[in-house]
Amino acid sequence: MLNASPIRCLITAGPTREFLDPVRFLSNPSTGKMGYALAAAAAAAGWTVDLVSGPVALPEPDGVVLYPVVTAEEMYHQVDALFDACDILIMSAAVCDFCPVERHARKVKKDAAARQIAFKQTVDILRTVTERKAHQTVVGFAAESNDLEDSARAKLVEKRCDWVVANNIVQPGAGFASDSNEILLLGAEGTREFYGPTAKKELARILIQRFAKS
Ligand code: CTP
Repeated sequence: MLNASPIRCLITAGPTREFLDPVRFLSNPSTGKMGYALAAAAAAAGWTVDLVSGPVALPEPDGVVLYPVVTAEEMYHQVDALFDACDILIMSAAVCDFCPVERHARKVKKDAAARQIAFKQTVDILRTVTERKAHQTVVGFAAESNDLEDSARAKLVEKRCDWVVANNIVQPGAGFASDSNEILLLGAEGTREFYGPTAKKELARILIQRFAKS
């Protein structure tokens, strides 16, 4: 339940990069547009906004405190430091799920790299911080190419979210890099609401209003 004024909001946005060596990394096509639109909409609604962002090519939204990070590990440490003080966490970042087991200080020769690069899972930021969830409202995202609702509902439960914003990332006009989006918003109390297709900025305004009322 959000009742404090101003609401203190922690938003993550953009991709993370997981480096093999100084010149190569694993990532995803996230541009941060949805997370930055949410941060701008939250600030415009008078909320106090901490924005933890992976590498993106977007201007810093007015009225937010920006914490730039690169890797999932760095994003985890920043979110971990800010989580207890926030009233609402909106985890819209596309955290890269894997990182190379080893990060080499020197460029790896391609023949050696082609033979074998071992990966491990990155820390699940959302799942980890919600283990100590107290008063916070928690909003997760679910980026899916299939079985949208079932997968998103599983994430809602497993990651202890109050809301999950589910979107189909292979649908035209939605998901990564698009200026518009179409989402299914699932609530922990069993609600399911469809929004869009509409501009990410408009969708962000709708979602911030929706979370403020919850
Ligand atoms: N997330 C996270 N830490 C990770 C991976 C994901 O905090 N290492 C968060 C995302 O920011 C999002 C939610 O978990 O809010 C779901 O992310 P998604 O990529 O859809 O799912 P995954 O949990 O990574 O599972 P899978 O890739 O198997 O669908």
